[in-house]
Amino acid sequence: MNLLLMGLPGAGKGTQAEKITEKYNIPHISTGDMFRSAIKEGTELGKKAKSFMDQGALVPDEVTIGIVKERLSKADCANGFLLDGFPRTIAQAEALQALLKDIDQAIDYVIHVNVPEEKLVERLSGRRICPACGRAYHVIYNPPKNEGICDKDGQALIQRDDDKPETVKNRLAVNIEQQKPLLDFYEDKGYLVTIDGDQEINKVFQDIQTIIEK
Ligand code: AP5
Ligand code: ZN
Repeated sequence: MNLLLMGLPGAGKGTQAEKITEKYNIPHISTGDMFRSAIKEGTELGKKAKSFMDQGALVPDEVTIGIVKERLSKADCANGFLLDGFPRTIAQAEALQALLKDIDQAIDYVIHVNVPEEKLVERLSGRRICPACGRAYHVIYNPPKNEGICDKDGQALIQRDDDKPETVKNRLAVNIEQQKPLLDFYEDKGYLVTIDGDQEINKVFQDIQTIIEK
């Protein structure tokens, strides 16, 4: 099963991706997570990505397409995958179509997690993430069992650099502009399914399972 998760920053893609990939046993491919790991490791890719991410801008297509291409060629993607945060531009979407054709695969569903824009700032500003495993929490909507500590591995939670107010505004603006043509692109191809992301986390997950298991 080959899935794409789309949605604006804070819509809950990462939160749902963790549940989907665990239940259906497919790898979670998040370009944002890949860039954050590269930044942490201080690699060339990380240095390149950081300047864009800090401004809430998109990392250039050639860089992003390159890392996805490499990741999709790994053996664990042969039985399906979940792409989260990719594609984000029409050029990326077209590159993905070509790539999938080459490996004789196709997309099953593009799941668009839809949340009203005015809710997103609150979700992003209250988000805390685990620097070790990447899991996202929310100070109000999805708090860890012990305040400030990851349930999975006991690490102290932190705020993502690009969740600081000065970056959030631009990130949202950039993504709102980019997302519309992509939704049209996948709608035209008949892959797009939109679900209501403005519901309790498990309810959103139920709706996603209903689509996948239809
Ligand atoms: P990326 O890491 O992909 O970030 P994003 O798209 O901005 O999405 P987020 O991770 O912010 O949100 P999410 O939808 O995963 O929400 P989450 O589940 O955490 O990208 C970061 C940057 O990398 C980009 O800005 C860009 O620079 C670069 N980049 C990445 N991919 C790229 C690409 N393809 N091309 C170019 N550049 C790229 O949830 C958010 C919060 O809400 C959490 O606190 C969570 O607990 C809470 N929450 C989740 N669901 C619910 C719910 N149902 N109800 C209440 N609260 C909820
Ligand atoms: Zn953790």
